[in-house]
Amino acid sequence: MQRSKTKSYFLKTFGCQMNVYDSERMTEALARDGYSETDDVAHADLVILNTCHIREKAAEKVYSDLGRLRDMKDARRRNGKETVIAVAGCVAQAEGREITTRQPAVDLVIGPQSYHRLPELIARTENTRERIVETEFPGDEKFSSLKAPRRVSSPSAFLTVQEGCDKFCTFCVVPYTRGAEFSRSLAKIETEARELVAAGAKELVLLGQNVNAYHGEGPAGRSIGLAELIRRLADIDGVERIRYTTSHPRDMDDDLIAAHADIPQLMPFLHLPVQSGSDRMLAAMNRKHNASEYIDLIARIRSARPDIALSSDFIVGFPGETDADAEDTLSLIRAVGFAQAFSFKYSPRPGTPAATLDAQVPEDVKSERLQRLQAVLEEQQTDFNARSLGGVVPVLFERRGRQPGEFVGRTPYLQLVHAAAEGDLVGRTANVAVTETRRVSLSGVIAAA
Ligand code: SAH
Ligand code: SF4
Ligand code: F3S
Repeated sequence: MQRSKTKSYFLKTFGCQMNVYDSERMTEALARDGYSETDDVAHADLVILNTCHIREKAAEKVYSDLGRLRDMKDARRRNGKETVIAVAGCVAQAEGREITTRQPAVDLVIGPQSYHRLPELIARTENTRERIVETEFPGDEKFSSLKAPRRVSSPSAFLTVQEGCDKFCTFCVVPYTRGAEFSRSLAKIETEARELVAAGAKELVLLGQNVNAYHGEGPAGRSIGLAELIRRLADIDGVERIRYTTSHPRDMDDDLIAAHADIPQLMPFLHLPVQSGSDRMLAAMNRKHNASEYIDLIARIRSARPDIALSSDFIVGFPGETDADAEDTLSLIRAVGFAQAFSFKYSPRPGTPAATLDAQVPEDVKSERLQRLQAVLEEQQTDFNARSLGGVVPVLFERRGRQPGEFVGRTPYLQLVHAAAEGDLVGRTANVAVTETRRVSLSGVIAAA
């Protein structure tokens, strides 16, 4: 269909890197269909919210945005312009038709497994003004029919290799919003990796809700794990760095640990969420490991790659958590030593087993525990960065900074670095002598090669 005038769209992304990747793919499909992106929502013919359901705050934010979008849609209609409002992502999957009931201005609800149908469904709602809810889990791969070429917005490119989760931690919505574990084939991933490199990517960040459970189809129909996938991708010319996220401790096998010792492109950084340091809480969370198993695992990883930087997620105030449990988490943090971490107050999610447990922890207790935990983590992060002072680190520069002539990039340990340079450093790796360190970033000067 030939469009008379270019239509514009506005896309807002909430949640994790998987959503960022999905948004990039939707952007590419919309561009192929003749849409142009606008950052002025009031002028958009199509508004897509790519949503997150992980905590209550994230999900509620969507409804406040939708309220404002309804007013905007009404105002545009008074000027003779129509607006299609689409809700994608994990809130779409979890709430489906409830979304259009709660906010009738929404035209299209589309779950994360149905994005291959996005162009067709937008056209249908535009033509018929019908409200569409599409939350099926199709058997085939969601992006294989979106034949739009890959583009990169940064030298560090996301590449989804695995989706879904079979772990069913009792607090988590992901197994319901993203469905069962599914791994893409080596052939598809290699093709996409080559496209990304051709488009300027230097670093591949392999994504999956449970990425180290990867078991895709490899050569001759044989199933391969994440370590072998990384080895294959490291062989592609132009792939300078590889990372992967997010992993589960139970799926950290010997082959993957060995990959950290053997593959130079695999960066010495690992995000390995532990959630809690209390065995009682870990069991109630259905994490399938205890605190000492996690600490032993870290020791094995460190013996393969002694300088590896570690990161984790933590939940405080899971139902039944006592002061002693919270103390156990602080002990684990002190025993491991994290370079960075994310921490959250437990948020009861509808449909998950933990939401209906008795002994929900009061909000003020959660806040107090979160503060104590974050104080320890922040101190560790500050110390980790301080150890870089006076050293020289290879930095892959990803973008320009706010100051004129300033560039921002990352060390192998994922530390953010600011440095000034003449010319254009974006996409280049340069050695930086670190002159200043802070909790969340380093500064330095470009050193001779
Ligand atoms: N395996 C995925 C999990 C995504 S959720 C990944 O790690 O990327 C990311 C983090 O959100 C989890 O590790 C957990 O710490 C946190 N989280 C999940 N459900 C939560 C809930 N109900 N309340 C608070 N935090 C939660
Ligand atoms: Fe959620 Fe647990 Fe699966 Fe991570 S491993 S996505 S926390 S159920
Ligand atoms: Fe959120 Fe869905 Fe990611 S719930 S964290 S956007 S998988």
